[in-house]
Formats: sequence, C-alpha cells, structure tokens
Amino acid sequence: MVITRTREELYKTLDEFFKQPGKLALIPTMGNLHDGHLSLIRLAKLKASKTITTIFVNPLQFGKNEDFKKYPRTENLDIEKLKKEKCDILFIPSNSEEVFSKYEKVKNLDSGILGSELCGKIRPGHFNGVLTVVNKLFELINPDIAVFGAKDYQQQILIKKMAETLHPKVNLIKAPIVRSKNGVALSSRNNYLSEKEFNIAANLFKCLKRSVNSYQKSEELEEILDNAKTFLTSKKLMPDYFELRDSELNYISKNNYKGDKVFLGSVTINNTRLIDNIEF
Ligand code: PAJ
Repeated sequence: MVITRTREELYKTLDEFFKQPGKLALIPTMGNLHDGHLSLIRLAKLKASKTITTIFVNPLQFGKNEDFKKYPRTENLDIEKLKKEKCDILFIPSNSEEVFSKYEKVKNLDSGILGSELCGKIRPGHFNGVLTVVNKLFELINPDIAVFGAKDYQQQILIKKMAETLHPKVNLIKAPIVRSKNGVALSSRNNYLSEKEFNIAANLFKCLKRSVNSYQKSEELEEILDNAKTFLTSKKLMPDYFELRDSELNYISKNNYKGDKVFLGSVTINNTRLIDNIEF
C-alpha cells in the first residue's frame, strides 16, 4: 500500500495508477477503522481493480461543542488493517491544508432542506461540512467509484444528490450496515460507551425491527412511532428522532406506502449519539 500524506504525493501516486487500466474506487473515512469500514473496502475491491482509502477527520463537519478533538485517532492500527485488506493507496493528509489549501477558496456546499432535517436538525451545518469535504476529495482523486455505508443513510443520500450534479461520472455504491453480535451498528463512537451502555444500545436495532414488523402488520404509523419513542426512553436511550421516510428521505404519512422505505432512529446515551436504520 502506498501511503500519501500531501497533495503532491497523492497526485504522483495517482498519475502512476491512472497509467494502468482498470477502475479506481474511493472509500472516504475518518479513520478508527472497524469492520464496517473494512466491508466498504472489500466491496470496492469487487467493483474496481484499484482502491484508495482516505483518513481525514474533517473539521468542517463537527459543531463547536462536538467531539472533533477527542474523535479517536488510531493511525498505526488503521494502516495495519488497510494493508491486510490490500488497499492500494491511503491518503492520510498530514494536516487540513492538504485537503483545503489556503491558496484556493473552499467551495462550501449547502446540503439544503434535507441537510437540516433528521441528523442535520441536531447537528446544524454538519452535512454542509460533509458535502464540502467529499466534493473536495472527489476533485482531488477523480475516482470512478465511491463507496459509502448505509449506516449513515442521510449522508449517503445527500452525497448521492450532490454527486448527481457535480460528479455525474462517479458511480456511488451503498454498502450494507455491519453490526456487532448484539445488533448494534458498528461505529467509532461506540468506543465512548461502557459495556453496559453498549448492551443497552442494542435496543435501538430491536426497536427498528419491531417497528418494521408493526408496519407490515398495518398498525397505525403514528402509534408505531409513539411506541418506538416510549420503548427507547424506557431503555434510557433518549430518542433524538425516530421516523419513517421513503428511500429518498421524503416524508411518508400514509400507512400503506408500498415503495421502498426506511425507519431511521437516533438516540443519545450518556452524551453519545448513536444512529441506525432499517430499509424495507
Ligand atoms: P466515517 O464515520 O469514518 O465513515 C466512513 C464510511 O464508513 C461511511 O460511508 C460510513 O457510512 C461507513 N460506515 C461506518 N460504520 C459502518 C457500518 N457499521 N456498516 C457499514 N458502513 C459503515 O462517514 C464519515 O466517516 C464521514 O462523514 C466522511 C464520509 C468520511 C466525510 O468526512
């Protein structure tokens, strides 16, 4: 694996790679890699002959009181994992300047109305920061394919919409959610939980599954959502939101919506916010 830390090193390495035939797949991450991230690389390797992972804790997507400083940084372990997966290139910028250069104006993207709903309501500006960095990474790397996890459902939809206009040639792939044995979706933020809290967190997935079940039994949507919030609260998982949307994240008010849809939930346990969803 070639490790690049500056734009110059990245460009040089990419130049060499572009001389060879085959597609290049990009997997953007913020590091602290777990099996969820690695599943993206495995999927990318099925679709492309060359893979590039980026590790960059993007300051633009963290709010003032969020965990930018304490976000887990585990560079050496991450590099070992990437080598094992036979990732071809790692871009791990030595500082933010290698992504957002002071010599060029940052193209700040706006995530629109959808960017201020669901997670965006709790984290104002978060998705603008996500879109801004992903757009920059697409510009720097020019991949054929980019892989994003279904775990961050709203993020993946917003990136898809952004790419449709700004990077129509990039083929976006959605990777399924990887879970731990108890059902909790893998996340770097699970590191903040005690063992007891981690076990309690399993109730979010349980609640999502129960809600799908109830919907399929034609129970009233309003009642399903109320029951879900009551259930989560009873488990000390404070619901930030729990909603049903269609697969593009438009509102669904009907009970018998036949198209693809998704229950999405976000809960807070001891200052740690966890998200999960089920598509059906
Ligand atoms: P990060 O949280 O590191 O996640 C990187 C990618 O891994 C995202 O596409 C995310 O959806 C995926 N992922 C995380 N946990 C997963 C799981 N349990 N199963 C499947 N996929 C999972 O998301 C970001 O970083 C950033 O916002 C980023 C897109 C890199 C922009 O800074």
